[in-house]
Amino acid sequence: MIFFEWDDKMSVNVPEIDKQHKKLIDIVNRMYQETMNQTQDDAIVSIIDDLVDYSIYHFSFEERHFDRVGYPETVSHKREHGIFLKKINSYKKRADSGALILSVSLSVFLKDWLFDHIMGTDQRYKKYFAK
Ligand SMILES: [Fe+2]
Ligand SMILES: [Fe+2]
Repeated sequence: MIFFEWDDKMSVNVPEIDKQHKKLIDIVNRMYQETMNQTQDDAIVSIIDDLVDYSIYHFSFEERHFDRVGYPETVSHKREHGIFLKKINSYKKRADSGALILSVSLSVFLKDWLFDHIMGTDQRYKKYFAK
């Protein structure tokens, strides 16, 4: 069973962005898998690093497009990205110092946040990006 499965209803009709969302989903699945395998010590820092790095890459990709199309909900969307980045950066700090233990609840939090963001906030730019 896949922990976090892509569904076509999550598409924003921009192939490059769908690809990036799938990659974020992959990272969350890797984290969940490591949690289950309990091999976390070696893997945790690199997974959190990937999550932070790829989230920064993906969010700035979306935000560049907001500016390009003059997206009216840019401010609130960027704020959501910023709050999430702050949160995962605090995980990164704890992971780097050896104080973060992978838990199912962490994977569930990331899955829920990403799913809600992609299905809610990201869907709202669909019609602007299609132009
Ligand atoms: Fe997104
Ligand atoms: Fe977004």
